[in-house]
Amino acid sequence: MNDARTLWQLFRGMPAEVNHAHRLQGFYAAQAADYDRFRERLLPGRAELMEWLQPEPGERIVELGAGTGRNPEFFRTRVPALKNLTLVDLCPALLAKAHERWADSSNVLIIEADACIWRPAEPVDAVYFSYALTMIPDWRAALENALAMLRPGGRLAVVDFTLTRHQSRLAKHFWHKWFSHDGVNLNQQHTEMLTGLLPFYELREYRTQIPYLPGLSVPYYLYSGIKG
Ligand SMILES: C[S@@+](CC[C@H](N)C(=O)[O-])C[C@H]1O[C@@H](n2cnc3c(N)ncnc32)[C@H](O)[C@@H]1O
Repeated sequence: MNDARTLWQLFRGMPAEVNHAHRLQGFYAAQAADYDRFRERLLPGRAELMEWLQPEPGERIVELGAGTGRNPEFFRTRVPALKNLTLVDLCPALLAKAHERWADSSNVLIIEADACIWRPAEPVDAVYFSYALTMIPDWRAALENALAMLRPGGRLAVVDFTLTRHQSRLAKHFWHKWFSHDGVNLNQQHTEMLTGLLPFYELREYRTQIPYLPGLSVPYYLYSGIKG
């Protein structure tokens, strides 16, 4: 029943509002209660990315496009020792869930802001995006902003769906259409930009099945880089 509600919202797609924040709220408000459960199957590689990130005591960490604040659950035992963890998102319905989840953690800051513009008061040790770059229209600005807030030696990490040169034109067209209906823009240029951004990086590509689409799989990647 809960899946049906989320699937109906995915079927209806992203509302045609001009304002990006209003579109996100219109899309996610009805799904917020079921968001985490449904996305466990839809968004792979997040636990692995958090393993790569390895937050250390005293660090300042930022997630841009953090949604419900689900990802720091993967390193919950490390959260109390962090200087702070800032979760930034433009969608109040999802941020309300993040507030509930992290209500007892005074070093977790939850900010309603645009990932392309928001900056912390001081440089941070790590910034990550989890399935957010594909939903941010000006994704280049978001990456440049992430880089600008990182201290030298800081880590940038990303997990997201992608298109690859190994796919046929038909497959690329299908997945692009399928995801863009829900405001997710698969773009090979994301990994192309990421691999030129930082001197030291690791990029791994995988494929995952999409729930309710048997036999079809879409590529996703994990990226981690260190600012010089
Ligand atoms: C697919 S969700 C991923 C949420 C979370 N990172 C996760 O892994 O579950 C994409 C998120 O990006 C957020 N988002 C999209 N554009 C944004 C922007 N310009 N600034 C901040 N957040 C944005 C959406 O509101 C949504 O929460």
